Amino acid sequence: MQIFKEIRPLKAFLQQAKKSPVAIGFVPTMGALHQGHLALVEASKKENTITVCSIFVNPTQFNNPDDLARYPSTLSNDVELLKKVGCEVVFCPAAAEMYVHANHIKFDFGSLDKILEGEFRPGHFSGVALVVSKLLNIVTPQRAYFGQKDFQQAALVKKLVADLNFDTEIILVPIVREADGLAMSSRNVRLTTEHRKNAVAFYHGLHKAKALLLAGTDFDKVQAEVKRFCESHAGIQLEYLALADSTNLSLTKNVTEQSILLIAGYAGEVRLIDNLMLTDEN
Ligand code: PAJ
Repeated sequence: MQIFKEIRPLKAFLQQAKKSPVAIGFVPTMGALHQGHLALVEASKKENTITVCSIFVNPTQFNNPDDLARYPSTLSNDVELLKKVGCEVVFCPAAAEMYVHANHIKFDFGSLDKILEGEFRPGHFSGVALVVSKLLNIVTPQRAYFGQKDFQQAALVKKLVADLNFDTEIILVPIVREADGLAMSSRNVRLTTEHRKNAVAFYHGLHKAKALLLAGTDFDKVQAEVKRFCESHAGIQLEYLALADSTNLSLTKNVTEQSILLIAGYAGEVRLIDNLMLTDEN
């Protein structure tokens, strides 16, 4: 496995590799890797000759400085995990390598970056779009892999790639969950034992919402019931439960074949998100 901390040698390596017919798959991450991230690497390995995984805790996407400061960093463990799954290339730049100058470029995706996560994390998606654009320009992959866990992020990246004519296919990988159903997240390690146990309420809340909607319950009632259910667990606070059309993420109160439920909230101090397609089994 090759490890690069700098852009120039990574680009030189990839240019050399591209002299033979190769397909490059790319998995952008912020590290503290878990099986959810590794599923993206495994998906890339199946479809590409070289998989590049980036590990970069991107400061421009953190609207809350405390969240950035507390973001877990486990680089040597991450490198070992990536070696084990056979990732070919790791790119782990320092912030100064990625952001040489103060960066003022801002992205505006219309309503897509203002709703849901965008409402609660202002500026977050502009920072995501900026770093993903930079990384795609550095790696120039045929395919890039994103998790369904961050459904709104994936929708936004698809829009970014289409609107800016990046030559990269965006591939969505299903959510990997813990045995009890909690969506894997780098943030889960920050949960106390009690909050870890109760955090699964978000997952059960999604399934409760799905069952109620399919039984014909009004979405307003479903929202109230899921809030009551989640918050009956100590330390759990619901921020939103939303119903949207998965093809364009427009919010709705009506169920269709394409509906997706999205949930966000706090378990203690830790903000968590999850989602469920109404057609999903798990
Ligand atoms: P990060 O939170 O590290 O996630 C990296 C990728 O792993 C994202 O595409 C995310 O959706 C996916 N992922 C995380 N948990 C998952 C799970 N349980 N199952 C499936 N996939 C999962 O998302 C980011 O980093 C950043 O915003 C980034 C895109 C790297 C830009 O900085």
